[in-house]
Amino acid sequence: MPANKKLLVLPGDGIGPEVMGQVGRVVEWFGDRRALKFEIEEGLVGGAAIDAQGTPLTDATMDKAMNADAVLLGAVGGPKWDNLPFAQKPERGLLRLRKDMALFANLRPAICFDALVSASSLKPEIVSGLDIMIVRELTGGVYFGSPRGIETLADGTRRGVNTQIYTTPEIHRVARVGFELARKRGNKLCSVEKANVMESGVLWREEVTKLHEAEYREVELSHMYADNCAMQLVRNPKQFDVIVTDNLFGDMLSDQAAMLTGSLGMLPSASLGDPDETGRRKALYEPVHGSAPDIAGQGIANPIACVLSFAMMLRYSLDLGGEADLVENAVRNVLASGKRTGDIALSGEATLSTAEMGAAVLAELETLGA
Ligand code: IPM
Ligand code: MG
Repeated sequence: MPANKKLLVLPGDGIGPEVMGQVGRVVEWFGDRRALKFEIEEGLVGGAAIDAQGTPLTDATMDKAMNADAVLLGAVGGPKWDNLPFAQKPERGLLRLRKDMALFANLRPAICFDALVSASSLKPEIVSGLDIMIVRELTGGVYFGSPRGIETLADGTRRGVNTQIYTTPEIHRVARVGFELARKRGNKLCSVEKANVMESGVLWREEVTKLHEAEYREVELSHMYADNCAMQLVRNPKQFDVIVTDNLFGDMLSDQAAMLTGSLGMLPSASLGDPDETGRRKALYEPVHGSAPDIAGQGIANPIACVLSFAMMLRYSLDLGGEADLVENAVRNVLASGKRTGDIALSGEATLSTAEMGAAVLAELETLGA
């Protein structure tokens, strides 16, 4: 690899710093063993940034993110900051990163590792071998649409407003990511909206269909209403290959898909922008789980989603598929050997701490790849 890659690490709040600490060890391992050197900067985001810097994301940190080859983020938010005005909440830091970096495509793979089949709340035959990819639109829709706000009406009652907006280019660019991924996988794309009640959903369906006809006829395209998709995900999740959907439906359906794999603590994600003239994409990698205030500070969180997010970074930002495979195989073997953090343990099973799980991944990396 040419120059050292610039990595911005934003551990954030709650269990964020705990799980990111284990990723730090994996990063070091690649430096020591694979001569894969990163130029790492750390920064604050979310509540941690509010406490230290008075804002959920400073302009200086934003600049660093814009100039990094990739951003690795832990989690944001927590009860301590729940009562802040909306615009100052920890989540705004994350949303600003996504919006200003134009990370419109959020890839959330839900893979059920064989060893975790029994950790899922669904029957083994429903989830074993599950491998689906949810592509969530990340910079549009109701998360960012205006008008938005809460107003007091003349009679003293209040009105809350949010707006769902999608334009043709926004739909096409995220659908394109879905089609391209489908081509490299099972060649099936399911586009999800609520065209039965929302105009933005009608447009979504029409535009995805147009793009399909114009450029991706060889991919098998289907359409599904979001409520039906939620149901199908627990009825027969293996019918899906790639799902493409809007920001809000993607938020909900990806949490649901995560639980098919055994735990929210297992799911990584990549948020990608369009490639620039040099082919480089802005990118942010984060576990799908949040800051988990209920277990924060106890050293028991599952670091695997964060470690797998780092693997996605190797694959999508650095084009190091072989190294990404190495990390994923290390995780697979650790799970196969029966090692479990609390979230994926069955009752009565011994559990590892966050650091012990990190150590187990390192030991496996050592066995597989030194
Ligand atoms: C996610 C999270 C975020 C979202 C929150 C923390 C703003 O739930 O990444 O899925 O709603 O997008
Ligand atoms: Mg979410």
